[in-house]
Amino acid sequence: MITTVTLNPMLDKTVYVDRIQRGDVQRASKIEMAVGGKGVNVSRQLTKLGIENVATGFIGGEVGTLIERLLNEEHIAQDFIRVAGMTREGVTYREGDGTVTAVFEPPHRVTHQEAAQLVERVNALIPRSSWIVCSGSSPSPEADDVFAAIVKQATEQSVKTVVDSYGLVCRNAVPSKPTILKLNKDEYEQTFGKKLLEQRDYHNAFDELLGQGIFCCIVTDGSRAVYAATNTQRWKITPPSINAVNPTGSGDSMIAGMLYGYAHDWDQEDVLRFGVAAGACNAQRWEVANSSLENILAMQSHVSIDTLT
Ligand SMILES: Nc1ncnc2c1ncn2[C@@H]1O[C@H](COP(=O)(O)OP(=O)(O)OP(=O)(O)O)[C@@H](O)[C@H]1O
Ligand SMILES: [Mg+2]
Repeated sequence: MITTVTLNPMLDKTVYVDRIQRGDVQRASKIEMAVGGKGVNVSRQLTKLGIENVATGFIGGEVGTLIERLLNEEHIAQDFIRVAGMTREGVTYREGDGTVTAVFEPPHRVTHQEAAQLVERVNALIPRSSWIVCSGSSPSPEADDVFAAIVKQATEQSVKTVVDSYGLVCRNAVPSKPTILKLNKDEYEQTFGKKLLEQRDYHNAFDELLGQGIFCCIVTDGSRAVYAATNTQRWKITPPSINAVNPTGSGDSMIAGMLYGYAHDWDQEDVLRFGVAAGACNAQRWEVANSSLENILAMQSHVSIDTLT
């Protein structure tokens, strides 16, 4: 089983309007609701690929109850910690001409006690998990150490981990030695205060992170090249050229794709190829992190991988 951890989920509403007129009242033609949050996206894509998983993290209030219901409807297994604060909502307005405008509510605060409760909950899931995936941002400073604590206890029990976060939460988790550290280029630059301008910069970044005991580092950049490294090999991967519709969750789909590969004992290069293909498939569709195995398999042949020396 794979456990995904989302500290900061969101109820994602998409409101369809013909055209937004600022300062005026408009009627929507349709609304859609989905559960947002990085770890939840990984869980959705894993579920679609038939990989057993459970989503945990913080949820609260009536919005949290709705999230539980929506996850049940999607057949995504869940084991969230209930917190006193209300889970945030985000509204995305889609206009007839394709323009997209989004407003996300601020996250709720969690208490130190709630943060400790989540670490305990994940600890109980570790013996049944092959991987723990720690994805996304933290809703409040009290939770900034949660990923670090989770990765530490998983590592101590020889359970593999993914960290896909940024800023302090990510920096805090690095010393706990996650198996995989995944960031996009902007997140890397913001988190570590270093620019990735040329190949040499990626090599320096990987030297530093792998030197701290991380097994695999990946830096993505949307449609541009992915750089990935382990202690024995480094790759520059060119994503397929696609018609991008909605790139949200492409990184999350990539992680789910990689975990699919590991679950089937593929070698590292095939794991990366399938992950990149899963990211590209996601970007092709409006729906987030729900690509079919057939589409990802077909996309793989359009991924090109070069080994860096
Ligand atoms: N427009 C695109 N064309 C082709 N592939 C894409 C595109 N956008 C994303 N991908 C694929 O998905 C991978 C991850 O995308 P991206 O770098 O946007 O991740 P991210 O910023 O972490 O996304 P998120 O956090 O929303 O999941 C890319 O490395 C690439 O393989
Ligand atoms: Mg991401």
